[in-house]
Order: sequence, then C-alpha cells, then structure tokens
Amino acid sequence: MFQGKHVLVAGGTSGINLGIARGFARAGAKLSVFSRKQDKVDAALAELSELGGAAAKPFGGTADVRQAEAVQAVLAAAVQANGAIDVLISGAAGNFPAPAVAMSANAFGSVIGIDLLGTFHVLRFAFEHLKKPGASVINISAPQAFLPMALQSHVCAAKAGVDMLTRTLAMEWGPAGVRVNSLVPGPIDDTEGMKRLLPDPSKKEALARTVPLGRLGTTDDCADVAMFLASDAARYVSGAVLPVDGGWSLGGAHVAMGHMMMGG
Ligand code: HXC
Ligand code: NAP
Repeated sequence: MFQGKHVLVAGGTSGINLGIARGFARAGAKLSVFSRKQDKVDAALAELSELGGAAAKPFGGTADVRQAEAVQAVLAAAVQANGAIDVLISGAAGNFPAPAVAMSANAFGSVIGIDLLGTFHVLRFAFEHLKKPGASVINISAPQAFLPMALQSHVCAAKAGVDMLTRTLAMEWGPAGVRVNSLVPGPIDDTEGMKRLLPDPSKKEALARTVPLGRLGTTDDCADVAMFLASDAARYVSGAVLPVDGGWSLGGAHVAMGHMMMGG
C-alpha cells in the first residue's frame, strides 16, 4: 500500500517509533529515520534495509530535534535521498519520573524542548518538503496529554502542547491537502518509556489489569494504526487524537474495579 512512498520518522531509531518504521518498511515504503545517536541510527538502518528487501535504501541521519538548524539539515538530506515526504511521523521524546519540586528549570525544559519544541521544529521545517496534496502527518503523543499523572508534570505539559499543535496545524494545513493527527500509545510493553516509568517487571500484570482489553500494547499495535492514519482509508480524518491503548485512557481505578466486579 505504501510502495515507493517516502515515510520519514523523527526519533525513529528505537521503541514505538522504530516499530512504526518497520511496519511501513514491510509495506514497501522508502524510510528515513533520524535521532541523536549514530549507533542507534546504524542499528535501525540495518533492520530497515533487511525488511525493505534488496532495493530498499533507507536514509539515516543524526540531529537533536531541539536544534532548528540541525533539523532543517537532516530533513533536506532525507529529501535529497528519498524525494518529497508522503508521511511524516514525529515521535522523538524524553521522559524521567520526578516530582516537579525535584526538577531544575533545565530538567523541565529538556522534556518541553524535545517533545514540544522538537515537534514544532520537525513539522515546521518539514512542511515545505511534504508532497501536497495528500501528505499525512502523525505526531506521537501520550495519555499524559489529557490524563494528569504524578511525577509527569513535564510530559503532561509537553504532550498536551503536542496535541494542540496537531489540532491547530490540521486547521492551517488542511487547505493544502495535508492531514495532521496524533497517535496516542497506551502502555506499550518492552519500550524505554515503560522501563523508565515502571522499572519493576513484576508490576506489569497489575498494570495490564487496568487495561480493558487486559494486556499491554505492542509496537505492532501502534504501527498498524499509524498505517491506517497514513492511508487513503483515513482520507477524511484530520485533527484527531487517537488512543491506541486497549481502552486504558478510559480510566484506571474504575476500570480495575469493573474487572473485579466481573470476577477478574
Ligand atoms: C530530575 C533529572 C532527572 C531525574 C534528568 N534530569 N533526569 N532531573 N530527576 N530523574 C535533569 C538533569 O539533571 C538535567 O538538569 C536535565 O534533566 C537534562 O538532563 P541531561 O541528561 O543533561 O539532558 P539530555 O542529555 O538532553 O537528555 C534528555 C533526557 C534523557 C530527557 C533527560 O532522559 C533522554 O535523552 N531521554 C530520551 C529517551 C527517553 O526518555 N525515552 C522514553 C520516552 S517515553 P540539570 O539542571 O542538572 O542540568 C515517553 C512517554 C512514556 O515520552 C509514556 C508511558 C505511558
Ligand atoms: P524510545 O525508544 O526512547 O524512543 C525515543 C526516540 O526518540 C529514540 O529513537 C531516541 O533516539 C529519539 N530521541 C530522543 N531525544 C531526541 C532528541 N532530542 N532529538 C532527536 N531524537 C531524539 O521511547 P519509546 O518508549 O518507544 O517512546 C516513543 C514515543 O512513544 C515517544 O514519543 C513517547 O512519548 C511515546 N509514548 C510511549 C509510550 C510507551 O509505553 N513507551 C506510551 C505513550 C507514548 P536517540 O536517543 O538516538 O536520540
């Protein structure tokens, strides 16, 4: 379905974002990924080349999304390699659990800088390179955007901003034929994000009980929905904030209580 389409994933070198890149690579897309660390870029490229088959020549580069000029340079290099961008995915993010009073201004600002300013940079400077009309933009958000969570003040504020960027740019870019949506992963197993928030694997089972579908998510769950959002099947979907979370964001304690009442 994405044969020959250029799919660029910012922060696409590990976890959920790499999982999404893998999905598009399997579907025949030309992939570009970038993040800060060369070793992660190299490992992702090796995987994506293998998945895409002999003809696949994925592009990889390094840039910190907080640096406007570095983002502009890596986007230009990706477009030089793979042509105008059909699908843009912005997923670079940072997270550590900490109470607000234990954060320096730089600590709070580092997450705002990566998640929110970084998303602005990626979208702002990619716009001129999008294949218009028809391009699709997907921001990777988090439930913290609309569910307050202790020790997550920086992420809650940053991702709420990301979702408002999704909505406002859906308005500004709709007339150019560009759709902008947010994909909101729930708790996704075996990811850096989950390891940071719940380092004790024995707590996974209890967490899974707060998910109406009864399990943690997978990166493939996210990839499939990203491909739906980028596909023609979603041609009239823009400005949406779409949870991919097995119903987790419907609630925590009262979902668990419902399970208990149902004998779980
Ligand atoms: C308080 C902390 C801290 C902590 C770092 N800092 N960890 N403060 N408690 N636990 C402070 C540092 O002391 C420093 O402030 C400031 O944050 C910046 O830290 P640096 O290490 O210098 O920054 P940098 O190298 O830019 O790294 C950014 C980072 C890092 C966010 C801190 O963790 C990172 O690179 N993360 C990327 C990978 C990641 O987090 N992936 C998970 C995404 S999951 P001072 O004042 O000392 O200079 C996600 C949502 C998950 O986003 C949702 C699950 C449901
Ligand atoms: P991850 O593996 O750490 O992914 C983050 C990616 O962003 C990495 O490729 C990282 O590579 C890159 N990155 C980080 N800071 C960057 C920067 N300043 N500039 C450029 N690239 C940067 O984490 P993950 O858990 O899979 O999370 C991926 C996305 O899903 C994030 O947007 C996160 O908020 C969202 N999410 C995750 C979960 C979950 O359960 N894990 C739940 C909800 C939402 P480098 O280190 O090489 O830069």
